[in-house]
Amino acid sequence: MSPGASEPFDIAVIGGDGIGPEVVASAVEVVDAALGAGRCRWRHLSWGADHWLAHGAMMPADGLAELAGADAILLGAVGDPRVPDHVTLHGLLLPIRRRFDQFLCVRPVVLHPGVRSPLWKLEQVSVDLVVYRENTEGEYADVGGRLYQGTEAEVAIQGNVFTRRGCRRIIDAAFRAARTRRKKVSSITKSNAQAYGMVLWDEVFRETARDYPDVATESLLVDAAAMDLVRRPEAFDVIVASNLFGDILSDLAAAVVGGLGLAPSANIDPTRRGPSMFEPVHGSAPDIAEQGVANPIAAVLAAAMMLDHLDRGAAARAVRSAVDRVLSQGTVRTPDLGGTARTTDVTRALIAELA
Ligand code: NAD
Ligand code: IPM
Ligand code: MN
Repeated sequence: MSPGASEPFDIAVIGGDGIGPEVVASAVEVVDAALGAGRCRWRHLSWGADHWLAHGAMMPADGLAELAGADAILLGAVGDPRVPDHVTLHGLLLPIRRRFDQFLCVRPVVLHPGVRSPLWKLEQVSVDLVVYRENTEGEYADVGGRLYQGTEAEVAIQGNVFTRRGCRRIIDAAFRAARTRRKKVSSITKSNAQAYGMVLWDEVFRETARDYPDVATESLLVDAAAMDLVRRPEAFDVIVASNLFGDILSDLAAAVVGGLGLAPSANIDPTRRGPSMFEPVHGSAPDIAEQGVANPIAAVLAAAMMLDHLDRGAAARAVRSAVDRVLSQGTVRTPDLGGTARTTDVTRALIAELA
């Protein structure tokens, strides 16, 4: 997106697989209600597992070029039981994150009013943390290979790539975010066992911290951090972690505050050279697909992050407070939150709050 993207915004919409199209349809309706119909031009792209089954690819060969001109990308989820996961993900989601250098993956974790945490004691405290996940390298760098495939001598090598620049830019973004929040950054690695890449990460973390003397820091090992997310989630402010650890910890943190149905995610290139991408943290949930019961709030909150990115802060705040009101009232809830509402009931309740 160019720095001054103008209306109507050109939004590429990839519903994807499973519940992806269902929750994204809700997000599109809510954004139209919050911002005004016609102010986003929704470019629907039917890419995903069906495209793979029909054409042998998750998206057309020029798919990335087609996305390049968009002001933002709104994604549901990809993944389908009929196609191996490494094929679906390496054919669509991961190439988009890398091609558009969306190195900054932002995943807020908030205990919303009226939502019961499975850890009920947490209702006495407030949880408001954000995971800054490195999104372009680390354990997800597509580097490696397989030798003697299918034989007893088979070898698979999976490379991890940690660069000084890659560590620096995500850690620096985390410190800048902390300055606008409660001024604490927790860096999470496993440098006792991963003695090269994660030791480099720890060194860059210590160096970067010197530029932010007003921000408190801690460096945790990932196993201990997982325990602390359950034991004292209220103590975290900004968590900065590698690609894989950020992935795992964001599902864990989401579960602590009520589940994946509420957890949004933004994949951001802060230079705005290309489009950033907004999606729920959750996947395509094949177990509940096509039943009309998926919770759309994660996708709706991801769309609110998109509105912030497009400099439409008022509409983003309106969407968030509509979500908080619907959650606080507690009457319209999908089954993951203990209710009986359907996806479209939640969409309608949100739109009614916006009206
Ligand atoms: P998942 O996130 O799809 O589902 C995990 C559990 O949470 C399931 O029980 C599901 O029913 C529930 N759940 C998830 N979202 C929900 C919602 N909005 N409302 C109510 N319940 C919800 O994870 P999974 O089952 O491990 O993966 C399924 C597929 O999705 C796999 O192919 C995986 O690779 C893919 N995946 C894709 C993305 C993505 O596109 N960003 C993210 C995660 C997983
Ligand atoms: C996510 C997902 C993806 C990831 C998978 C589907 C590759 O789990 O966005 O959290 O690990 O990045
Ligand atoms: Mn994940």
